[in-house]
Amino acid sequence: MTVSICIGSSCHIKGSNQIITRLQQLVSEHDLEEKIRLQGLFCMGLCQSGVNVTVDDVHHSVSPDTVDEFFRNVILAGIEA
Ligand code: FES
Repeated sequence: MTVSICIGSSCHIKGSNQIITRLQQLVSEHDLEEKIRLQGLFCMGLCQSGVNVTVDDVHHSVSPDTVDEFFRNVILAGIEA
């Protein structure tokens, strides 16, 4: 699974760094380093719905407040599926 987090300036202002840091923590807490690749991406052209994150090319809108929920509902659920 590839998780790409937008690090363009608009998403950066909305907290993409915090999201990356938190996702790195969650991935390592769940021992998923081998299954999940986290990467930064430049502006996806969807700045208004940022922070934009894609999971295997499916778009999601995530904020620092919803990152734990996103990890549980999208990433963990996707890995277990
Ligand atoms: S800065 Fe993230 S979509 Fe534009």
